Amino acid sequence: MRVAVLGCGVVGTEVVRLLTTQASDLAARVGASLELVGIAVRDTSIERDPVVDRALLTEDAEGLVERADVVVEVMGGIEPARTLLLRAIEHGAAVVTANKALLAQDGPTLYAAADAAGVDLYFEAAVAGAIPIVRPVRESLVGDRVQRVLGIVNGTTNYVLDKMSTEGLDLDAAVKEAQALGYAEADPTADVEGYDAAAKAAILASLAFHTRVSIDDVDREGISGITADDVVWAERTGYAIKLLAIAERSDQGVQVRVHPALVPLTHPLAGVRGAYNAVFVEAEAAGELMFYGRGAGGAPTASAVLGDVVSVARHRVLGGKGPVESSYAALPVLPASAA
Ligand code: NDP
Ligand code: HSE
Repeated sequence: MRVAVLGCGVVGTEVVRLLTTQASDLAARVGASLELVGIAVRDTSIERDPVVDRALLTEDAEGLVERADVVVEVMGGIEPARTLLLRAIEHGAAVVTANKALLAQDGPTLYAAADAAGVDLYFEAAVAGAIPIVRPVRESLVGDRVQRVLGIVNGTTNYVLDKMSTEGLDLDAAVKEAQALGYAEADPTADVEGYDAAAKAAILASLAFHTRVSIDDVDREGISGITADDVVWAERTGYAIKLLAIAERSDQGVQVRVHPALVPLTHPLAGVRGAYNAVFVEAEAAGELMFYGRGAGGAPTASAVLGDVVSVARHRVLGGKGPVESSYAALPVLPASAA
């Protein structure tokens, strides 16, 4: 099974590490060996982690996707990621991506292309890092009726709010630490202003409510207006400030929003520290479910990516395919301003 990796940064390096160091275990689990045939980057000349075989690096991402059975996209951004994934699908490759920004903007185009080509499109790593949340919502709960999805889905902002509380750091200093730890997006404005959480909320809402929610449908407010003093005063009155993503079904349709909220210190979400995430899902028959774990960082995210790689590779070995998104219903999505 030929595997191409697009991107070799925080996440890509850890994906390459797992593919390399776990090769024999992965082969046993898939029923075929996973051969890493290339790693696309912007600049092949810069220094990389020693686990990366320099001979596999290429700046020709387009050529690389045409010679792979499984394409793993961990480069981020809208273009050229979108064009490369569509090209991979056109060539019959299964696709695994961690790119929530792309999925929240143009997921339906990718889902439709994958459905038409009969190939898998998996994206567990796009929401909440290592936490299995996409697969449970997309597959395990597909027979139930989800009412609400609520939680902390951005590790950077949770880390920043935590550092404001425990060390009195200001926003800029805490964001710099989150960047150094590999939690933040290439442009951390995406984290701080809630765009990253809004993208994840749109993806979860689309899957949970079988409708098409884009990032533009999400009412969004970030944490740039919050100071260390706000965090400390909130705690003195019995609350933690958390950036929450909320998607819920109402009589009128689906409503999705991201904003800072006062969470009572007694609530489990108040105890979510550092770059951890936690998501509650409420479904009619299942009741309340809670998902918790590391929401950002190279290794946790690579764990989710590799889970997807094994799934799609197994499907290819066995001649099957995972879930399709063509069952979208026309449940109305309320405009962001209605939230
Ligand atoms: P990085 O910025 O660390 O790495 C990006 C990689 O992609 C780099 O190797 C870069 O090449 C390569 N790249 C970027 N643009 C191009 C291009 N046009 N052509 C070829 N290669 C390109 O990002 P992360 O690893 O942090 O994130 C990658 C993806 O994973 C993003 O979609 C992000 O949202 C998502 N994600 C990240 C998480 C995290 O905790 N960091 C968690 C969950 C998802 P070069 O090295 O030469 O610059
Ligand atoms: N920047 C993102 C975060 C990475 O902090 O949650 C994980 O998606």
